[in-house]
Amino acid sequence: MIATWLALSALTFQADTSHAVIPRPVALTRGAGAFVLTQRTAIVAAPELAALAWQLADALAPATGWRLPVRTAAAATPAIVLRIDRSLAPLGDEGYRLDVTPRRVTIRAPHAAGVFYGIQTLRLLLLPPEILRAAPVEGMAWMVPVVSVADQPRFPWRGAHLDAGRHFMPKSFVKRYIDLLALHKLNRFHWHLTEDQGWRLEIRRYPRLTQVGGCRSGTLIGRPSNDTLQHRFTTVPHCGFYTQDDVREIVAYAAARFITVVPEIELPGHSQAAIAAYPELGVSGRQLDVWRVWGVSDNILAPTDSTVAFYRNVLEEVLELFPGPWVHIGGDEAVKTQWTGNPAVEARRQQLGVRDMHELQSWFIRQMDQFLTGRGRRLIGWDEILEGGLAPNATVMSWRGMAGGIAAARAGHDVVMTPTSHTYFDYYQTRDVAREAPRIGGFLPLDTVYAFEPVPPGLTAEEARHVLGTQGQLWSEYLPSGRDVEWQAFPRLTALAEVAWSPREARDLADFQRRLLGFQQRLDALDVNYYRLR
Ligand code: ACM
Repeated sequence: MIATWLALSALTFQADTSHAVIPRPVALTRGAGAFVLTQRTAIVAAPELAALAWQLADALAPATGWRLPVRTAAAATPAIVLRIDRSLAPLGDEGYRLDVTPRRVTIRAPHAAGVFYGIQTLRLLLLPPEILRAAPVEGMAWMVPVVSVADQPRFPWRGAHLDAGRHFMPKSFVKRYIDLLALHKLNRFHWHLTEDQGWRLEIRRYPRLTQVGGCRSGTLIGRPSNDTLQHRFTTVPHCGFYTQDDVREIVAYAAARFITVVPEIELPGHSQAAIAAYPELGVSGRQLDVWRVWGVSDNILAPTDSTVAFYRNVLEEVLELFPGPWVHIGGDEAVKTQWTGNPAVEARRQQLGVRDMHELQSWFIRQMDQFLTGRGRRLIGWDEILEGGLAPNATVMSWRGMAGGIAAARAGHDVVMTPTSHTYFDYYQTRDVAREAPRIGGFLPLDTVYAFEPVPPGLTAEEARHVLGTQGQLWSEYLPSGRDVEWQAFPRLTALAEVAWSPREARDLADFQRRLLGFQQRLDALDVNYYRLR
């Protein structure tokens, strides 16, 4: 009786499993039967993997109601065994093997990151979706089908961006977002922290950045009109910033999930909130307000030594907080109208011996590149940083199509491919826009995201190696809350995670859509506000 029941359940599982594994592993072979998780299952891990073992025990506890014991010694079965196995070095920094037999689950990897990804596959994809519930689920058989998985990512940069500038995103949501990225085996969190409409990062040396720049007095209602007299505003202040302790917490939270946080401090455009806090940073020296409108402000930083020194001081604190290799300095949409024709800026241009205002921007970016390189870090910027000549060590994020990325890769620079055409998840995902809350515009459906190929044809193998990967953008002009961000992000980010992780040859839209139906049950259990595939 029990055996029949198990066999039947295993069959159900196989069907379920085939609908839920995202991103699709490189190789997954099914066998007969299942491993059944019980209260007697031990988690066995060497001391170097103890943190991951406890993380797994914590993850399984709410829905099962069991605190599974964590042991270091090889134990009697049944067990979930986590192991570093250097002989698996060909699987790379993030690859893993997951082998399930009726008596034991074994996750092996050459590095801890791989063990983490193996755990995600086990916890989130093989066990039934109820495992993600936050309280004990009665009457469940917690089963994992017998499988053998060998898996490793295609790209080292699998990212998601979040704009906390236009709308402040509370720390609780940032951590939830990081959890969701980890579920998708994404490994870069690009945190957009400064904007015309708000400066969100505490800088001890310059407290007005958050005291003044962290608050705008109201927000434009609806879309910006060309006729500014038509603009109507809320009178509700929109305020918020992350203390340095908040940042340390979030960085550590992300690191525990093998996610590197890439902070973005914008310059020389998108800086009105900083100029509002310290007017001497601007070209006119005039007192500005923190912008209440959406769009591209023409208020730009003055290209002076004192502005450069100010931003070096800001970055000095940024480097203390963010241990990852990359610091994003923006560089996009820096409108030069205030520079052009300004006598002081024109004198500056001549003094520096640069030809035009694009080169003047490049001079500015180079100052930051020298500073970051001198401290062993890597500057990354949007593709406009190519326009006046690329700083020697810069990595480029190609958003206005692929051309910037191609040019940078050909010049031997690393690139992350983030074109609006495939990775801007603030765009609409339906043509039925009358039934949606207003969004920024554009149309980017799921199948277009899934079809994205980050390595453009025509690159040599050597140039293609500079394509680090891709990431999804979540700009928040029209996304006031985390719920709105989730609606825009999922499942398009789910599709992009497969683009970034799975082999190119394995891409199959119909198969992905089938698996997504099962994956959505996981998102349901986690109460993710996703755009439901109908
Ligand atoms: C951008 O979307 N302005 C990078």
